[in-house]
Amino acid sequence: MEKREQIYEGKAKKVFKTDDPSLVIVDYKDDATAFNGLKKGTISGKGVINNQMSNFIMQIIEKEGIPTHFVKELSERETLVKSVSIVPLEVIVRNIAAGSFSKHYGVEEGVVFDEPTLEFSYKNDDLGDPLLNSYHAIALKLATKEEIALISDYALRINEIMKKFWDERGVTLVDFKIEFGKTADGEIILADEISPDTCRFWDKKTGEKLDKDRFRRDLGGVEDAYSEMMTRLGK
Ligand code: TMP
Repeated sequence: MEKREQIYEGKAKKVFKTDDPSLVIVDYKDDATAFNGLKKGTISGKGVINNQMSNFIMQIIEKEGIPTHFVKELSERETLVKSVSIVPLEVIVRNIAAGSFSKHYGVEEGVVFDEPTLEFSYKNDDLGDPLLNSYHAIALKLATKEEIALISDYALRINEIMKKFWDERGVTLVDFKIEFGKTADGEIILADEISPDTCRFWDKKTGEKLDKDRFRRDLGGVEDAYSEMMTRLGK
């Protein structure tokens, strides 16, 4: 597959055209940002880890019957994926209070929920990705009612798949953010990435943070946490 011109550069990935209009190549960077790009840095080796972890997990999710953008891993940092237009919603599932949930609602980090929560943010950097509900998303024409129902169902199923997967590897899945895309045929599929950038992972025994919170909160040991997660993955 021929890699052609770059069509997009985000905070953590670049996207390139291929000679097939239905396929693009994503190229994962080591760049890290937090707080809507206010904090900038590099996490050495992150691109390789996020690429490989994301691909591994997407294949498991696909096997469970949820369509994903994954096509083929091309190199350590590059993957061939289906071309989509991203639904501008950050879909967040939480099992345990942490991060913005703890802040908004005054709940200590670590409080375990009886049921997972599902929330949406409007993916819009200029507005700072504001929280919204499904009615707002429909009013803003970010997705149809049917698409939101499907996305919600997929997100909660992905949570069950990942919770079990990580639990078997000694990791508690605290929360995560996913994004969906729409193909040219109108199919909604899981896109973007699943990685320590986009999930909160706590060691099951010690509670140690094994994700991007180490970078966000200047906890140190960022690279070690990412490579520990790769070891847990079995890579
Ligand atoms: P939050 O508690 O800061 O809202 O984050 C919830 C989850 O979403 C957490 O696993 C980290 C992930 N996340 C992203 O992937 N991108 C973002 O821009 C933010 C704010 C959170």
